[in-house]
Amino acid sequence: MDFKLKNIPSQQGRIAIVTGANNGIGFETTLAMAKYGFKVVMACRNMKKAEKAKSAILQKSPDADLDILQLDLSDLNSVRAFAKNYKNNYSQLDVLINNAGVLIYSGKKNGAGIELQFATNHLGHFLLTNLLIDLMPDDTASRIVVLSSIAHKTAKIHFDDLNGENIDDAEAVYGQSKLANLMFADELNRQLKRSGKKMVVLAVHPGGSFSGLFEEMSKGVRYYMYRTLAPFILNSNSSAAKPSLFAALSPDVQGGEYFGPQGFNEFKGKVGIAKRSDYSKREDVAKRLWELSEELTGQPFIL
Ligand SMILES: NC(=O)c1ccc[n+]([C@@H]2O[C@H](COP(=O)([O-])OP(=O)(O)OC[C@H]3O[C@@H](n4cnc5c(N)ncnc54)[C@H](OP(=O)(O)O)[C@@H]3O)[C@@H](O)[C@H]2O)c1
Repeated sequence: MDFKLKNIPSQQGRIAIVTGANNGIGFETTLAMAKYGFKVVMACRNMKKAEKAKSAILQKSPDADLDILQLDLSDLNSVRAFAKNYKNNYSQLDVLINNAGVLIYSGKKNGAGIELQFATNHLGHFLLTNLLIDLMPDDTASRIVVLSSIAHKTAKIHFDDLNGENIDDAEAVYGQSKLANLMFADELNRQLKRSGKKMVVLAVHPGGSFSGLFEEMSKGVRYYMYRTLAPFILNSNSSAAKPSLFAALSPDVQGGEYFGPQGFNEFKGKVGIAKRSDYSKREDVAKRLWELSEELTGQPFIL
């Protein structure tokens, strides 16, 4: 797939939200979207970090049109407050990039007792999308982009143990949240198609990049990753943002597709159709996850 970012026309007059815009892949996505002319609403949980990131983007791209709105995806009340705040300030949303994410090894839970990765990566974005989708024009240029991960491939949705209490492998619990991201994108796309809507939902994964995601790893492992692995097999954060940008901007996509880098182990390389597990294609599981997510967020999805 030949994705030439430089061929994208100006997007002036359009609005995008990027969650987790202050760091890593979200920062680079925000910078690039702003360069294309989008007004970008940076949806961030930490205002100080968001202001710092905004200044850094403005240094690189002085014309960037950026706003910051507070959002903690692990807290459904914060998601509701964000949506209300957004609707008070803007009448339209053209691109929603569900980028923010956490990788937690320590089994933390949110205030409602839900495992923090599932709560943040999936449930928060599920509710956010539900509350904002009515602002999106019904047009193929309207995009919902959901970040999944290679880690989805070995995961399952443990409906009887969502918090992963009986799962020994901490990464499998992260994988479950990223599988939920992918299956949510698929199911939303199916439901929109059934309702005759034209807006486009796509999943992407960024490959592997050395971002803030690995902060809970021991310093030794991080040093090893940074010094030995990263330069050879991992993406830079700006390259890792390309699948998201492709999904947000390319006219050459179909709802329900899943994009990522095409190189060794899908860690880096040109953007193309990504590999997915057979389990991720199961519509019965996606439907059950959807119903559970509606129940856990207390908000039926009306399309
Ligand atoms: N990097 C990789 O190798 C890789 C591979 C596969 C998938 N991904 C996915 O790529 C996405 C971006 O991650 P990244 O690698 O750029 O990691 P990152 O540098 O850690 O950035 C994650 C962003 O998410 C934000 N965030 C975390 N918890 C949040 C919450 N409760 N509410 C709102 N925002 C929250 C973080 O904010 P703070 O700065 O306040 O923490 C940060 O801005 C994630 O969905 C991740 O799962 C990354």
